[in-house]
Amino acid sequence: MALSTSSVITLHINGEKHTLPVDHRTTLLDALRERLDLTGTKKGCDQGQCGACTVLVDGRRKVACLQLAVAAEGREITTIEGVADGDHLHPVQQAFLELDGYQCGYCTPGQICSAIGMLAEHAAGWPSAASDDVRPAAGPPPLTPDEIRERMSGNLCRCSAYTSIVEAVARAADADAASASDGPAQSREAAA
Ligand code: FES
Ligand code: FES
Repeated sequence: MALSTSSVITLHINGEKHTLPVDHRTTLLDALRERLDLTGTKKGCDQGQCGACTVLVDGRRKVACLQLAVAAEGREITTIEGVADGDHLHPVQQAFLELDGYQCGYCTPGQICSAIGMLAEHAAGWPSAASDDVRPAAGPPPLTPDEIRERMSGNLCRCSAYTSIVEAVARAADADAASASDGPAQSREAAA
């Protein structure tokens, strides 16, 4: 008996369910762009090297070109189309806008999704290769420009808008910290 090469799957994307038949080899990126018309997620290298296709899967950063659509079934997927709250931009989007964290904008959806995931990783206390103190008890390291560069290093920008991207991520982190507490945000001084 021949094995089936396709399945009908249901993807949960930006709070909506999408049921569609897919070839088992279809990547999440192609399902988003070619099948569901969610073209905000960009295809750059299509081999996991540029970060242009970054989306959030269960809140974690994923390069959608290396994720099979069938493997994403049942997970909560957030694309750039789903990060704003209605007419209110996500703080990371707002910071990119205010600080010109883009030029052509091609890498921007991936940069923004990656920054949202990265800030959550940092808030959870995850160290990076740039962290001076990686002991769990040390808590989240100061979100210095070096920390931001290291944590965002999977996202390339052909226009080299990196300086503004780092500033935008730092500003969004400040906004997060300010909304979480009335105390001073640790990244404000570090990014200055
Ligand atoms: S398109 Fe997926 S990492 Fe480049
Ligand atoms: S703004 Fe053009 S690739 Fe990043």
